[in-house]
Amino acid sequence: MNRRQFLNYSAAFAAMTAFSRYSIAAERYYTQPEAGVPEVDIAGARFPEHFLFGTATASYQVEGAWKADGKGESIWDHFAHTQGKIKGGDTGDTACDTYHRYKEDVAIMKQLNQKSCRFSVAWTRIQPTGTGAVNQKGLDFYSRFVDEMLAAGIRPMCTVFHWDLPQALEDQGGWPNRDVYNKFADYSAILAKSLGDRVETWAIFNEPFIFTSLGYGTGVHAPGKKDINLFLKAAHTVNLAQGEAFRAMKAASPRAKVGTAFSMSPGAPATDSAADKAAAERYHAINNIFFLDTALKGKYPDPFEGNQRPFETMGLRPDDEKIMRAPLDWIGINYYNRHIVADAGQGGEPLTHLTEYMPTVGPITYNGWEVWPRGLYDIVMRISKEYNRPIIEITENGCAYSDAPLPDDANKVPDARRIEFYKGHLAELARAIKDGADVRGYHAWSLLDNFEWAEGYSQRFGMTYVDFRDLKRTVKDSGHWYGRVAASGKLEV
Ligand code: NOJ
Repeated sequence: MNRRQFLNYSAAFAAMTAFSRYSIAAERYYTQPEAGVPEVDIAGARFPEHFLFGTATASYQVEGAWKADGKGESIWDHFAHTQGKIKGGDTGDTACDTYHRYKEDVAIMKQLNQKSCRFSVAWTRIQPTGTGAVNQKGLDFYSRFVDEMLAAGIRPMCTVFHWDLPQALEDQGGWPNRDVYNKFADYSAILAKSLGDRVETWAIFNEPFIFTSLGYGTGVHAPGKKDINLFLKAAHTVNLAQGEAFRAMKAASPRAKVGTAFSMSPGAPATDSAADKAAAERYHAINNIFFLDTALKGKYPDPFEGNQRPFETMGLRPDDEKIMRAPLDWIGINYYNRHIVADAGQGGEPLTHLTEYMPTVGPITYNGWEVWPRGLYDIVMRISKEYNRPIIEITENGCAYSDAPLPDDANKVPDARRIEFYKGHLAELARAIKDGADVRGYHAWSLLDNFEWAEGYSQRFGMTYVDFRDLKRTVKDSGHWYGRVAASGKLEV
């Protein structure tokens, strides 16, 4: 891009900043940190007739069988096999062995009256090195899995990419390498073409902000790179990939309903100062909509402070707006917690110059996250209002607690705190629906205890307990409770 084009871009982004600052949406939707835990209306919560209650999982976290039937190595195989990267030296080599036990897992979903199953496909089962011929055996696995769900009356919601990039593509630079976006679009078209006769609802990406920032910025996740410029480049390739995959999938399967599952965390300004309010808007721009505005508006939101606008580093080219733009059919929200945001002057996060923290007003889960159901209402309402009432799916929401089977009753796992968590969040979701948000489904994270990335098996998010010694599944009390909710559409069950 020449200097003049770059300045034009900068002007456009500056104008958008002004707009978002002007709207100061945070004031209207967010709760201030000093407020106590708000009351939630559990008894009054109601869901629409065709609301889809479901659960979510992801390939690397549950499948195991890491080199079965021609599967190639992914960056998560590689990372987990590198000493010191995962707590306790855990790997996803076996995980929950869903690759072999998928029938048992679908049977649990059916038993719990589930109507939607969000799962993801491992790219390396379909194209072991990320390009070239299809590995039919890998494809057949997902085909069998999908058939099993359909036979159980469960909608398959397929995530194309939940973080397990082929290592062969990483060896060529990974997501920071712009060439990857076309390869990803080819892969997504293969999926849409081969499963599109049975799968209608697709999420292109899972949490694009998380896998680009943790994988390339902080290095906590695979592939473990630590360079803000690599994060910026990766983010741009992913945005291009999202737009290109959207079109490729629609061409391969015209009835496909294509969205993405975005990580979203409402960020409330720490004080009423204009600087903190502006910082909260920057936080929203980078954390929540950096991969959404690009699709729906064809432009990046502006999270950057001062004169530091890294679009040249990102490799933005003049026609990229057209490539990134894609009228997503639905917006997926993964919600876990809220944050409080303050302006950091010239310090804080690079480029955005803000600091943020998670408050501790609500109860705290096993992994230290605050339970804050109101945040789900806040973020759903904000997205609903600012994007003109789009179709929303809650693609993930859940909590880690380490409850285990009772010593004298191995079939019972009492996990009252998880039931409270879901009650609160579902009640707040019902309130958002009552207030006008068009939310079609909700996916608890997760059906099973599973491999929690860098934390290994130390954090249990499942509604089903998995004994990782023999892989026995035991539905927890929360799972049974959720099954009754799914059947009745009410929370006091
Ligand atoms: C979001 C991610 O999509 C999922 O893979 C992860 O396990 C959960 N958050 C819990 O951290």
